[in-house]
Amino acid sequence: MSNTAEIKVGGQSYDLPIIEGTEQEKAIDISKLRGQSGVITIDPGFKNTGSTQSSITFLDGEKGILRYRGYSIEQLAEKSSFLEVAYLLVYGQLPTTEEFSRFTDKITRHSLVHEDIKTILEGFPSTSHPMGVLSSLVCAQTAFYPESLDPNRSASEVDLGIIRLIAKMPTFAAWSYKNKIGQPVNYPDNKQNYTSNFMKMMFALPAEEYEADPVVADALDKLLILHADHEQNCSTSTVRIVGSSHASLYASISAGINALWGPLHGGANQAVIEMLENIKTDGGDTKKWMAKAKDKEDPFRLMGFGHRVYKNFDPRAKIIKKAADDVLEKLGVNDPILDIAKGLEEEALRDDYFVERKLYPNVDFYSGIIYRALGIPTDMFTVMFAMGRLPGWIAQWKEMRENKEPIGRPRQVYTGFNERDYVDMSNR
Ligand code: CMC
Repeated sequence: MSNTAEIKVGGQSYDLPIIEGTEQEKAIDISKLRGQSGVITIDPGFKNTGSTQSSITFLDGEKGILRYRGYSIEQLAEKSSFLEVAYLLVYGQLPTTEEFSRFTDKITRHSLVHEDIKTILEGFPSTSHPMGVLSSLVCAQTAFYPESLDPNRSASEVDLGIIRLIAKMPTFAAWSYKNKIGQPVNYPDNKQNYTSNFMKMMFALPAEEYEADPVVADALDKLLILHADHEQNCSTSTVRIVGSSHASLYASISAGINALWGPLHGGANQAVIEMLENIKTDGGDTKKWMAKAKDKEDPFRLMGFGHRVYKNFDPRAKIIKKAADDVLEKLGVNDPILDIAKGLEEEALRDDYFVERKLYPNVDFYSGIIYRALGIPTDMFTVMFAMGRLPGWIAQWKEMRENKEPIGRPRQVYTGFNERDYVDMSNR
């Protein structure tokens, strides 16, 4: 195959370079097209547009492949830990024993947050959604570490900012929940590992001893691994584009948290459980809800179904479905919502509408069921996703900075009024 593509505009031909990735994915480089021909390309929602060249995550949506730095999600979920995956994503290689021990030690020691964070938290009413609180607290780090406003600092200073963020994220997440339910916050416990520490800060009560259930902590760790990166999705693209203006790491990640919050992206895990609960309260008639999802006049969509890039199955959903069965069995939980979920999945997989459009359960379809079984409140589900996605966002921000990528600034095709004269208010 030639390494150029020919495009004809108004009878004139232009040769455009084709670039190829390490997995033989090809892309036409149109960056000079406007300068040569006067036309731009348009692709709302970036359905067929690459925004960068990245060496972090490989995804083949047709084959259901997901790999972080070359390692399959299946192997990482089975054999690795969330912090090891975080190291892999951020630094590009699996750590040696010594590197991992230094990394975990630093993450443990930076988990405490400034006492004034409590004052900020107290300003939020109990009606606050924890995602809004989380993004505010992450952005507030720019106030506690003003030097972070300069992303051109030395690599070691940037790295300290990264360590601080990974370390403090579980504290922010747990505190946003405690504040919402009106309980005193728990401080991090350096004797715990990353996930058990988060659980202790979330669930421990002042008057009681608390020990995280290892079954729950392991399941949570696996969920975090499965969410850790997903190449150029909505929130990650947001992080890269905000960072491309040389905004700080904390401001960029805070923006990513907000992008994740929406129900079409990470907010789907909360929306799935709310949908399943609605179906149950409504009598459990899954056929009625399937019909609603297919009705173009009805805004309802089957939450947890469909994906921009996965067209045969979502490999994360496959692992999560099995993990959901294991966890429910180990904890002895019998959740009627699981039966509704399984019923919906079976119907959708047989239904022409879903089959034709290649709509399969995505990562969020079963993750909510596990979070529920683990005792995580529904409005904290997307916060769990954010905790998991954090190392991916950081790795992508770091790569964008190290590659010295230009500011993200798409073009548009203008469809408004042509020039017209201003009319005085009295004459309108
Ligand atoms: N229920 C019913 N119809 C659907 C659904 C759904 N969940 N998803 C897509 N469709 C239909 C859609 O109406 C369209 O139909 P038509 O061709 O007749 O117009 C067709 O399928 C293609 O959908 P699209 O909206 O053009 O696809 P997209 O790539 O722009 O959107 C999506 C992808 C994930 C936003 C969408 O499938 C959706 O809204 N799903 C439900 C929300 C959800 O579960 N989101 C979590 C995604 S996984 C977590 C993450 O990585 O963000």
